[in-house]
Amino acid sequence: MSVAVRAARRADAEAIRAIYNAEVEGFNTFDLTPRTLDDQVGWIDAHSGGHPAVVAEAPGGATGAEPTVVGFGSLSPFRERPGYATTVEVSVYAHEAHRNRGVGRALLGELVGLARGYGYHCIIARVVGSNAPSIALHERCGFEQVGVEREVGRKYGRWLDVVELQLML
Ligand SMILES: CC(C)(COP(=O)(O)OP(=O)(O)OC[C@H]1O[C@@H](n2cnc3c(N)ncnc32)[C@H](O)[C@@H]1OP(=O)(O)O)[C@@H](O)C(=O)NCCC(=O)NCCS
Repeated sequence: MSVAVRAARRADAEAIRAIYNAEVEGFNTFDLTPRTLDDQVGWIDAHSGGHPAVVAEAPGGATGAEPTVVGFGSLSPFRERPGYATTVEVSVYAHEAHRNRGVGRALLGELVGLARGYGYHCIIARVVGSNAPSIALHERCGFEQVGVEREVGRKYGRWLDVVELQLML
């Protein structure tokens, strides 16, 4: 599938929120409550500068419909303390109905390019240990596993490991 990746706008909030909230019900994010539209708009505003958010759009097709947002991703601060400012944390989500068609790779590729352009030194991805597709995506894009935080998360009665992957820029 051909997808175009562009900067996220406030108007994308509902589409991003729908993709994200589907994951809140599972184990791929540590959030326990769905995001409201206000939460999502605030998130987009907070990701409009040096820590950007992007969306992937699929073309509207022969009917001439508007392109559809099929995924999103972001760069966020890795840690709050200023000594970590040269590192960013990446996050990528593809709509469930559009997986395994290159959306995740397109988003991650764009975010790696942005991080390089902004002069960051490295990117960290923190992925739940059971999330094989995300670990595979990051490894296919050049990230290396650098550690496992064992049972640092707990959700729906299960302990969750976090696998840390890193890309030096
Ligand atoms: C992880 C996720 C973003 C991958 O997105 P995607 O659009 O399905 O991935 P792509 O089609 O771009 O695949 C990228 C690469 O990962 C590999 N990959 C993707 N899913 C895989 C799977 N289930 N098993 C093995 N490899 C997989 C592909 O083979 C591909 O490699 P290639 O391009 O060299 O062939 C998607 O599964 C997702 O949104 N999951 C739920 C949200 C989530 O977990 N986000 C990450 C939070 S840390």
